[in-house]
This record gives sequence, C-alpha cells and structure tokens, in this order.
Amino acid sequence: MSSRRPSQIDRRLSGLSSRRPSIDPSRLIPMDKATHVAGADDFNVVFIGAGNIMFGSDEGPWNHSFRFEHKLGRRLKVFAIVDPAIERAGAVLQKKCDSFVISAYQDTRVYKNFDEFVKNSGPRDRIKVFVIGSPPMYRGTLQPGRDVEAQIIKHFPGVAIFVEKPVATGPVNEIDEGYQIAKMILDNKTICSVGYMLRYLRAVQMMKQIINDNNLTVMATIARYACAYESIAKPDWWNKAKSAGPVIEQGTHFCDLSRYFGGEVDYTSVQAHSLEWDENAGQLSKIKFDEGQIAPENRIPRVTTATWKYDSGAVGSFTHVVALQGTNYSCEFEVFADGYSLKLVNPYVLPVLHIRSPGDDLERTHTFPDDDPFFSEVSNLIDVIEDIEEDPEAAQILSTYDDAVRTYELTWAIREASERTRAERLKASAEAAKAAVTED
Ligand SMILES: NC(=O)c1ccc[n+]([C@@H]2O[C@H](COP(=O)([O-])OP(=O)(O)OC[C@H]3O[C@@H](n4cnc5c(N)ncnc54)[C@H](O)[C@@H]3O)[C@@H](O)[C@H]2O)c1
Repeated sequence: MSSRRPSQIDRRLSGLSSRRPSIDPSRLIPMDKATHVAGADDFNVVFIGAGNIMFGSDEGPWNHSFRFEHKLGRRLKVFAIVDPAIERAGAVLQKKCDSFVISAYQDTRVYKNFDEFVKNSGPRDRIKVFVIGSPPMYRGTLQPGRDVEAQIIKHFPGVAIFVEKPVATGPVNEIDEGYQIAKMILDNKTICSVGYMLRYLRAVQMMKQIINDNNLTVMATIARYACAYESIAKPDWWNKAKSAGPVIEQGTHFCDLSRYFGGEVDYTSVQAHSLEWDENAGQLSKIKFDEGQIAPENRIPRVTTATWKYDSGAVGSFTHVVALQGTNYSCEFEVFADGYSLKLVNPYVLPVLHIRSPGDDLERTHTFPDDDPFFSEVSNLIDVIEDIEEDPEAAQILSTYDDAVRTYELTWAIREASERTRAERLKASAEAAKAAVTED
C-alpha cells in the first residue's frame, strides 16, 4: 500500500493535516429553521442515480432531493435525471410532479446514461451542480463507463459536483485513479463535496470546537459501528465483489470520522482481524435473503476490528460488527485528548455527546434534537456554490474528494490487513494439521 500513498510533502501541499475545516455548531440549523437561499434565478441540478439516497426509502433518513427542495425553494430546477433504470427514474419524477414541488420537476428530462445526457446538453443549460448517487462500483475511476467525475469535468468545466461515499468500490489497485480524479478536481478548481455527512453533525462540530478552543492534541480515536443486518436486504451489500465489503461500503463513515479527528493515517501500520461467515461464531440467523447465492470467497465478514497509528503518533481503533437484528444501528465514536474524553453515541438516530473534561470526573451529556446533517451538508454546498460572502466562516465543505479517497484507502488497508491475518491463520492451521498427520 505504501507506494500509492502520497508523501508527507504532497499531503502538506494539499493542505491536509489533523486540523480539518470545521463549522461553528450554532450555524448548523434544522431544515424548518432555515430560509431558502436568496436569489431569483433558476438553480439547475442534475441527479445522477434515482435511487434511495436521492429520493428516499424506508432504509433511513437520507433523501437528497428533499433537502435540495428545502434549501432552494422555487429556485430549484431539476434539469435532468440520469439512471439506466429509466422506469425507476420516471416513477420518482411522476411522484414529484404529483406533489407541491412540481415546479422543480415538470421540465426534468430522463437519460439512461451520461453520454446521452452530454449529447443533449451543454454550457447553455447553466447546470449549477451534478449530484452523483449512482452505486460506487460505477464511478471513481478513469475507465469508460465508470468515470462520470472526469466526464463532468471535461464537458462541464467549472460546474460543482456532489458525490456520495464511498468514492469507489473497485479493486484496490484502482485507488490511484481516485487520486488522479482528486487532482483533476483541484486543478480545475471544481467545487466538490463528498457525502460523509456525519462530519456535519452538530455533535461532531461541538467536538471539533472543544478540541480547537482548548488547543488539544488527539491521542486516540475509538470507533465502533454495529449495523442491524436484518434490515439490510440488498444482495450487493453482502457481496464483496460488488460492494467491496461492509468496512469499505458502510464502516467508511466511521473510518472517515476517525481521520477527521486523528489526521492522516500511516496505512502501513494498519493491523486487523476478522470473524468470517464460515466460522462458528459468525453464523447469522436472520439474513433476509439466501446468502448461498454469493460465491463463498465473496461473502462478507461478520466482524472486522483494526488498529493503526496516525502520523501524529496518536492511535486509532475501529470495529465493524454485522450482528444486530431489528433496524437501528448501534454506533459509538470516542476521542481522547489530555484531560478529555468526547464520546458520540447513536449518531444516526439521536446523537448524544458525553464530555468529560478537566476538573470533573463526571461526564456532561448533550443532546441535539432536530439535527439534520444531510441538510447541513447540502446547505453548505449550495452556499459555497452561491459564493455567499457576507460571512466567510458560514459555509464550508467538510469532505473534499482528495480527503475522501484517503478514507477509501484506509478502509481498503483495513480489509487487506484482515484478509492477510486470516490467510496466515489458515496457513498455520493447515501446517499444524499436516504436521499432526505426519507425526501419526
Ligand atoms: N450518506 C449516506 O448515509 C448514504 C445513505 C444511502 C446511500 N448512500 C450512498 O449512495 C450511493 C447510492 O446508494 P442508494 O442506496 O441510493 O442505491 P440504490 O441502489 O437505491 O440506487 C442507485 C441508483 O443508481 C442507478 N444507477 C446504476 N448505475 C448507474 C449509472 N452508471 N449512472 C447513473 N445511475 C446509475 C440505479 O439504477 C439505481 O436507481 C451509494 O454510494 C451509497 O453508499 C449514502
């Protein structure tokens, strides 16, 4: 992994350090308290992907179109939707046209791929942002059909991009292409935000504020992500050949938070273990589909646990668990610094922050009712695109493409380390079995 890794100098040049951009938490307001962005001209948006992240589902609170509607009000014009599943795109469009947001969707065109969209559009269409929510296996590279970011930069230079996490889920040797895309984005001065929305939680920004205000140095990050597997019915999610596994596809949110607080990771230091589907302790009773359809080598681990060193010397640890049933996940993220522990609990459902600080052995607890990080993410992006300058502190993109590729690389380093450990264990037990037979 080390050969792909940008040097310390590269990283300094790219402006990344453990001091990451942050937003005053009091500026992160819920959608019903926000006013539509000012102005009267159309704000043309193209949605790439017409799935759950874009139009909502029972799976969770995500639904980008809903946040764009609230932020932009009558200025929103969804210029086009690009999705090979034309009927799905048509169905969501029809639903919007049957509702009070019709003015944003009545002229929307549907294209089955980006090439077709390019043939029928151009600079005259004054697109303000491309919102990419296609599956990551179809993006994040420079290869035809999986290079939508590069195509946007080529055909629509200067137009902003929002892209969902993870940046890709291709083979590990394609990570370099992610860095090349990051460079294109930087070279072309493209505004780009990646969907690590947990960074926009008020609780997370309060943690940042405490660290910044007290000039603290993070000593350790401890992340634990336990999903409710019973509610995950998408076969691709359970297939490493499609989703690259649960650490890369899902645990990525907490690996990203770890980096947001701990800074750059020494990828060569990553060590990991996994509990696999074929081990006794890894048997699950409530998987909603037949896992037997997935080739054994592509079935996902039930538990992955990893540790690493940050460049700062701090230590990171992360555990991803596929064990819970029901619907709610159980996730906790903790940061330690001299005199402080900052513990974020339940960030997806009802974030609670427990803070222990010098002079008090008891924790203070903060709750954040009505917080909506998905809205804050969209709201900040739009304010940056609109270049609202009265207050330069106000709008920030907290997850850049380059930064997101680094998170992607960390998740791959964890997966590879766990697979290495497993292979070593299997080899050792095979050798022990062979030796026992020889002794007999
Ligand atoms: N930030 C979050 O909390 C969050 C939550 C949900 C999903 N996501 C991310 O959003 C992305 C999409 O997930 P989803 O749940 O919406 O998936 P989905 O399967 O519900 O929707 C994906 C859509 O993309 C379409 N598609 C496939 N190939 C395409 C292509 N080449 N161009 C355009 N569209 C294409 C599919 O037909 C489908 O309609 C994933 O990266 C996922 O990790 C993020």
